[in-house]
Amino acid sequence: MKYSEYSVVVVGSGAAGLYSALKISQQINLPDGIIIVTKSSLGESNSMYAQGGIVGVLHQNPQDSVESHVEDTLKAGAGLNDRKAVEFISEASDEVINDLMENGVEFDKNPDGSLTFTLEAAHSVKRILHSGGDATGRGITEALRRAVLEENISVMEHTMAVELLVNYDNECKGVIVYNELTGEHEIIYAAAVVLATGGAGQLYKFTTNPEGATADGIDLAYNAGAVIQDMEFIQFHPTALALSPDNKNRFLISEAVRGEGAKLVNNTGEQFMSKYHDKRELAPRDVVARAIYSEMQKNHVFNVFLNASVIDSKKLFNRFPTISKRCQENGIDISQKPIPVAPAAHYSMGGIKATVEGRTSIRGLYAVGECASTGLQGANRLASNSLLECVVCAYELADYLSFANLTPPKKIDEHIRKVIDLYSRSLSENDYNIDVLKDNLKNIMWNYAGIVRSKESLEKASALVGEMKRNFKRRRKCISTEEYEYRNMLTAASLIIEGALERKESRGAHARTDYTRTDSAAKHSEMVKGREMAYA
Ligand code: FAD
Ligand code: SIN
Repeated sequence: MKYSEYSVVVVGSGAAGLYSALKISQQINLPDGIIIVTKSSLGESNSMYAQGGIVGVLHQNPQDSVESHVEDTLKAGAGLNDRKAVEFISEASDEVINDLMENGVEFDKNPDGSLTFTLEAAHSVKRILHSGGDATGRGITEALRRAVLEENISVMEHTMAVELLVNYDNECKGVIVYNELTGEHEIIYAAAVVLATGGAGQLYKFTTNPEGATADGIDLAYNAGAVIQDMEFIQFHPTALALSPDNKNRFLISEAVRGEGAKLVNNTGEQFMSKYHDKRELAPRDVVARAIYSEMQKNHVFNVFLNASVIDSKKLFNRFPTISKRCQENGIDISQKPIPVAPAAHYSMGGIKATVEGRTSIRGLYAVGECASTGLQGANRLASNSLLECVVCAYELADYLSFANLTPPKKIDEHIRKVIDLYSRSLSENDYNIDVLKDNLKNIMWNYAGIVRSKESLEKASALVGEMKRNFKRRRKCISTEEYEYRNMLTAASLIIEGALERKESRGAHARTDYTRTDSAAKHSEMVKGREMAYA
């Protein structure tokens, strides 16, 4: 197999991957350079589609304070956040947001030139920064992409990381990648491997996430023996555009639209949120998602409506140009007509257990962004805290690595050699219809491990996914990106189901009809595959 050597390999090119690579390159004199490997084109990611904004607890916003942001985050997180991580990330936000702006990110400003702060659900003050109105992700990703291209950073696009190279001493020495353009597998040896592979939304039938969000980093890290935590906590965004019962990858109608005053109504015209929470449309996201789900179940319909016509139409179009345009393209003038909306899988709170500087339970392996679980998000993420986590942790990772030895490995052990052997064998073509298999899996996850769960539904999910795993005969190596994604989705689905079955309580985004109370002892769930099992 062809191989190369770098000091650092960053896997993924969303906000977390781009900013990690940029800061590492800017801050460290790397002996053997840095490469970004991304299965998409550079920058294509969940980050690109982020709308509402990014939390900025900035000194220049007199209304706000770290204490207030920490309290809001802990409240939304339903007792499962790690307070230290929350405080750290909140405190770092001023420095990191300023650094983003120095690197070319432009946030929207008021006519007097000051930054515009806006409100989103469950935030007690206006602290959300946005870019291009409702195109914050694009604003951040495009600026970071430009900055990355100006640095001496190698880039491999349309190339997927498929296996981590971890030795008997629990040290990561590199990664095997599958280059979709050549159809070849290659080895990249590195002193530090940074996973920034994003979320798991594609595990569900309805999602706001783009096609690439297939939980790849979770499979890679889990298989290599890393600790994975809290996978059962999947956030369902309350308001995705529901044009028909079948449209699956759903365009997001940002929470910020409710932040500006839009109201939820059911199919009988009732404004129903006051029945569910005193903060109504601005209640925590899990509460709003379950309220909508309950209205849909009760009335046997596929959606409710978001009435944005209560907002001044000029403000509406200026503040939400992307949303207005997308709705208009589908025949909905949002200043006149209610928008059909329904919940969709949006964000994974769990992931690879990591510190705020990205360290995982494997030396030399780092995880940043949505694929990581630092304890910031708890059982339910507060809006706009994700992009903040991506950039703060990337920034801290670069600081941490500036003290590390970044010389690529000089030798590999028997364990790594065995893994490489596995990927050197040729495979027979098999007639797996991956599109159909993925769809089946997404239906199972949506129906039995979705917004509301029970022992019965989860056991059904477990049995069905178990059967799908048995029927997929690949032993780690696969023959296409799609097969690898399906392999990874099966792993993540099993972890979500396992975590949800084990968690005999309802907390944040994890709601069980058979255990409706919250257990007084808040505990993270941890999942680890024994190293000896990894390639068994
Ligand atoms: P991503 O941005 O998803 O990037 C992952 C990257 O990894 C991609 O480039 C992907 O191609 C690549 N990749 C994946 N697997 C592999 C592999 N095996 N090999 C190589 N490359 C791989 N959060 C907020 O804070 N504010 C918001 O306003 C907001 N709005 C959102 C709107 C939408 C529609 C969505 C979907 C999410 C939103 N979120 C928001 C959540 C937030 O955008 C994400 O959590 C965050 O951007 C994740 O960034 P990331 O860099 O960790 O992952
Ligand atoms: C949104 O704009 O509603 C999404 C914000 C987020 O996911 O943080």
